[in-house]
Amino acid sequence: MSVLVVGASGAVGGAVVEGLLERGAEVRATSRSPERLALPASVPTFAADLDDPASFADALVNVDRVFLYADLAAPKPLLDTLAACRVQHVVLLSSSAVTLPGAAEDFNGGRFLRVERAVEESGLAYTLLRPGGFASNAARWSWSIKSDGAVPLPYPDAVQAPIHEQDIADVAVIALTSDTLIGRAPSLSGPERLTLREQIEIIGDVIGRPLSVTEQTEAESAAMLSRHVPEVWVHQIIKDWHEAVGATPPLSDEYTRITGKPSRTFRRWVEDHKGLFQGENSAGRVSGGGSTPD
Ligand SMILES: NC(=O)c1ccc[n+]([C@@H]2O[C@H](COP(=O)([O-])OP(=O)(O)OC[C@H]3O[C@@H](n4cnc5c(N)ncnc54)[C@H](OP(=O)(O)O)[C@@H]3O)[C@@H](O)[C@H]2O)c1
Repeated sequence: MSVLVVGASGAVGGAVVEGLLERGAEVRATSRSPERLALPASVPTFAADLDDPASFADALVNVDRVFLYADLAAPKPLLDTLAACRVQHVVLLSSSAVTLPGAAEDFNGGRFLRVERAVEESGLAYTLLRPGGFASNAARWSWSIKSDGAVPLPYPDAVQAPIHEQDIADVAVIALTSDTLIGRAPSLSGPERLTLREQIEIIGDVIGRPLSVTEQTEAESAAMLSRHVPEVWVHQIIKDWHEAVGATPPLSDEYTRITGKPSRTFRRWVEDHKGLFQGENSAGRVSGGGSTPD
């Protein structure tokens, strides 16, 4: 059985490749820039773009299962290509945004729903992974934390249940190496609710430096975010924060039920990535960590 990981350069995709190799699976991997992938020589790599289904022809030879990001403007042609290449099972990295009231009318919920529906209608077996906000979104604060330790935010009391990318990958690996999750759509969250302010306190605690939050207006936040994330997401991120003030996002136990292990905490994520928040800022932009919201 051979598994193709689309987006092996991604935080989740990269962890999926590692998890599959640990289980002894035969793995193939794609990126739009495969020369940047640093994978074991046993993993064949291919250049492929989700917007160009024909670019997957070589990558899909003898592939049974595919891990897929949902960054797909037109999902049907790609899914038709997967079916034509005799792929059996697709594991889609979707989002818990599809479960929120009014998801179909919401920009973010709507885009994931469109891809989920196309997967459901493709005739392929599928698993839809529906994580909430990623812990890696905190990487956006690395620049401020490294410069003066003060993180400007418009809604520091927004509540999230941030999930470690490794937890998502663990579930994806089970879906890709067994039939237990076929037809299922597990909602995945971190194990605890934390405000953005509390997340910043945890980062300070782990790196051994007191950090603070400075309140900023939505306009100031939009100007700042647009330096680091695509413009299309700026309004969505601020809207999500605003709506999350005083919210009680659901805590899912699906990760534990599927893997038999406790979910990784936000503190664990910071410990695993503490280099992001230490050292000097370089001249470039902040990179990594969820360029798009949930
Ligand atoms: N941040 C959140 O809170 C959150 C919550 C729920 C869901 N999500 C979703 O999770 C995903 C982000 O996961 P992550 O942190 O692992 O992402 P990441 O580290 O930013 O990596 C994104 C991956 O997607 C691949 N990709 C993007 N567009 C592509 C295209 N046109 N063709 C081929 N590959 C493409 C990239 O591959 P190359 O660049 O190498 O080609 C890269 O490997 C997004 O779909 C996001 O909407 C995020």
